[in-house]
Amino acid sequence: MSERNKQTDSPEKNAAGISAAKLVKDGDILGLGTGSTVLYTIKELGRRIREEGLKIKGIPTSFSTEEAAINENIPLTSFSHTPYVDIAIDGADMFDADFYAIKGGGAAHTREKVVAYSAKRFVLVADEKKKSEKLNMPVPVEILPFSKLFVMEKIKEAGGIPVLRLGAKKDGPVITDNGNFILDCDFKTIENPEKTAQILNEIPGIVEHGIFKNVSEIHIGKADGTVEILKKK
Ligand code: 5RP
Repeated sequence: MSERNKQTDSPEKNAAGISAAKLVKDGDILGLGTGSTVLYTIKELGRRIREEGLKIKGIPTSFSTEEAAINENIPLTSFSHTPYVDIAIDGADMFDADFYAIKGGGAAHTREKVVAYSAKRFVLVADEKKKSEKLNMPVPVEILPFSKLFVMEKIKEAGGIPVLRLGAKKDGPVITDNGNFILDCDFKTIENPEKTAQILNEIPGIVEHGIFKNVSEIHIGKADGTVEILKKK
């Protein structure tokens, strides 16, 4: 498991993670997101499998999550077996009042997006610090290494400042689970996430960007252990 995804003791994340795990039913094919918050969901699902005999199959969105799910004895499947999942549960780096989210802090957003968009229901688990009036953090963008300079120029033309993400315990760039690079692209305050997403969608060399538009509900854990659940109308 990566350093970043090690489970730290967080009552907020714990509350959100457990709350979302309650949505999972017998027979569900479940998208398992990546990050420290969804680890609490994975742990709770492990408990439900052991104690309640819950029968599910998970599709992990990263090597890190795959390892966590195996540790909890969650049966796994893959997109070679099924094109859709019933419910996907994942963390977020930031979300706004209109249910737009930025993901990719763990460089896993490409697989996370495939899984999220294949889901009938996409649920975010987060603490209150992730909530923002408007999206205003750099957008993680996974790119083909081959296209780095070209994509950086295009991002600059679109008004962004791209920064190549570097490894923490490795010299040089972060390499994603898909063998690509990450550019963290600062667009300051994103007034129109649809438009920014569209601009990024049209740049060749970008594999996937971290703006998510299909969130169905958000479970926000609080320090006192309570959870606020927001549902998209
Ligand atoms: C990984 C992600 C994570 O879901 C996001 O970074 C949130 O992580 P955490 O729950 O640890 O704050 O998008 O690519």
